[in-house]
Amino acid sequence: MKLMKMGTMATINQEISFEIGSLVASEYGFELVEGSTNDEEELEAIDALIDKEEDKEEDLVKRPPVVTVMGHVDHGKTSLLDAIRKTNVTSSEAGGITQHIGASEVMVNGEKVVFLDTPGHEAFTSMRARGAQVTDMAILVVAADDGIMPQTIEAINHAKAANVPLIVAINKIDKPGANQDRVKQELADQGLLVEDWGGDVICVPVSALKREGIDTLLEMVLLVAEMEELKANPNKRAVGTVIEAQLDKGRGPVATVLVQGGTLRVGDPIVAGVASGKVRAMINSKGKRVKVAEPSTAVEILGLSEVPQGGDQVVAVPSDKAARLVAEKRQQMAREEMLKSNQRMSLDDFFSQM
Ligand code: GTP
Ligand code: MG
Repeated sequence: MKLMKMGTMATINQEISFEIGSLVASEYGFELVEGSTNDEEELEAIDALIDKEEDKEEDLVKRPPVVTVMGHVDHGKTSLLDAIRKTNVTSSEAGGITQHIGASEVMVNGEKVVFLDTPGHEAFTSMRARGAQVTDMAILVVAADDGIMPQTIEAINHAKAANVPLIVAINKIDKPGANQDRVKQELADQGLLVEDWGGDVICVPVSALKREGIDTLLEMVLLVAEMEELKANPNKRAVGTVIEAQLDKGRGPVATVLVQGGTLRVGDPIVAGVASGKVRAMINSKGKRVKVAEPSTAVEILGLSEVPQGGDQVVAVPSDKAARLVAEKRQQMAREEMLKSNQRMSLDDFFSQM
């Protein structure tokens, strides 16, 4: 009302200038002090979020590849991951007892490879929509008895859009109706020419069920990783991405985070999307508590104020206060966004009724 009396037609969630704000405040006997955005620590915190400095070449060290398994329904993604881990995840998933972390690590010839267990498309779609790139390569599973199906094409397009290398695993070669040549033909129709047909797409025939071809597939993963020259700087504040998160009855908000740069430590103040907190505990993919997580490590973290979203960026910040301030600022921005879109909606409704 005061604003309107002063001739400023503003709505409740509109930004006004500092001058006008001061005038209104003085009407109520308050003096407005400019400077909340000059708060040293806040600036430092927000600064810390922007990974401005390119890592120097000499700080970069080799890091393990992060791999996503994609493909059509029932073509054997879970079975393949299962065979890779040589454990039976499917049965424990059904039992629902084992605490599930959305990633697993396997050692191949002494080298670590990280597999994201999140449904492959999710790792691309929801995360990519939010600007997060978590995977270095994709394994495309195609059942030899079924061939290229709609979700196979979708997966190919995701990998292309994300510009990550693709390895094709022709699965279920043990089945009577298996036809590898037909799969290769259908891949060619999609613009993927496999190596033995003169192209450059790596293609490995496997049977997840009989555990055949798994070693060759893993060797190819290492080969592609070698070519990609994957590197990260472990000696800085950690940056990473939320793979998945949920509210756990006993433990509070739990987030599975892929550390992509720097090193995350227990005790680090962090921000994850609009959530903040201090890393209270970290649990690795084998269910063991760990104190540090280096680049290309997936860990479950406890200690966040609320549940972040998959795809949210995670950053370690200099202080608890910084973490809180940044999260608060983000929450405020999210609220303003929501108000704005609600307002737009109601205005649209209003005009549509005229
Ligand atoms: P969704 O998660 O539902 O998309 O399926 P998925 O791609 O994870 O497939 P899943 O691993 O659940 O396998 C589907 C079915 O195919 C199961 O009955 C598996 O036992 C079977 N299967 C998987 N791999 C093989 C294989 O190499 N050979 C044979 N014969 N069957 C397989
Ligand atoms: Mg599955």
